[in-house]
Amino acid sequence: MLTVSNIPELRKVLGQWRAEGERIALVPTMGNLHRGHLQLVETAKAEASRVVVSIFVNPMQFDRENDLKGYPRTLEEDRQKLEGMGADLVFVPSSSEVYPLGMETATQVDVPGLSRILCGASRAGHFRGVTTIVTKLFNMVQPDVAVFGKKDYQQLLLIRRLVADLNIPVEVVAVATVRESDGLAMSSRNSYLSTDERRRAPLLYLVLKGLKIAIKGGAREYSKILEESKKDLISHGYTPDYLRILRQGDLSDAGSQDKALVILAAAWLGKARLIDNVLLHLKDDR
Ligand code: PAJ
Repeated sequence: MLTVSNIPELRKVLGQWRAEGERIALVPTMGNLHRGHLQLVETAKAEASRVVVSIFVNPMQFDRENDLKGYPRTLEEDRQKLEGMGADLVFVPSSSEVYPLGMETATQVDVPGLSRILCGASRAGHFRGVTTIVTKLFNMVQPDVAVFGKKDYQQLLLIRRLVADLNIPVEVVAVATVRESDGLAMSSRNSYLSTDERRRAPLLYLVLKGLKIAIKGGAREYSKILEESKKDLISHGYTPDYLRILRQGDLSDAGSQDKALVILAAAWLGKARLIDNVLLHLKDDR
């Protein structure tokens, strides 16, 4: 596995692979790799003949200084895991490689609307940082296919939207959320949880699954069931940011006639902001 940290060298290697007719997949990450990330690599291997994984803790997408400073960085372990998975190249640029003229005055890519709701409402500028770095990585690597997780469902929709709007010739593939055995969605930020908080952390997914079962069973008073679920979270020490039942396609409000739904949640538990979601499809007769 090659480790590359500068863009000219990256282009050289990729240029050779492309000339040899290889199909190239990109898996963008911020490192501290867990089984969720590795599932993306596995999918990338099935989709392409060469797999590039980027590891870059992108300062532009952090809205809180402490989160950026404390974000876990485990490059050596990450490299070993990727090597074990059979990735072909890990791209680990520095901030100055990515933003050579500084971040403040750099060109930004913004998807209005979708980037301002849910996580975007409570994390100002976060998604502009994400869509900017992902566009830059697409231009650096020029992959045939790029793999993202459904765990960050709003991020996935934003990336699909930016690819369509900017006519970027890349196929976006989505991977189902990988979970711990007790249901907690894997996340690098789970390390912010204390032992006691970690014990309570699976409740978020249980609440989402409970809502899904209720809706499948015919519940249509969405605001009522959401309020009850929020109370449940609060009584277990969570501070909910949002809990919503929305349309899968564009995250607009779901009505009782909608069939393709996503239930999304973000909630603080101690110092960790947990996010999760479940998808559901209602049958036509319901
Ligand atoms: P990061 O949080 O490192 O996640 C990298 C990719 O792994 C994302 O596509 C994310 O959705 C996916 N992922 C994380 N946890 C997962 C899980 N439990 N199951 C399945 N997939 C999971 O998301 C980012 O980095 C950044 O915003 C990035 C896209 C790299 C831009 O900087």
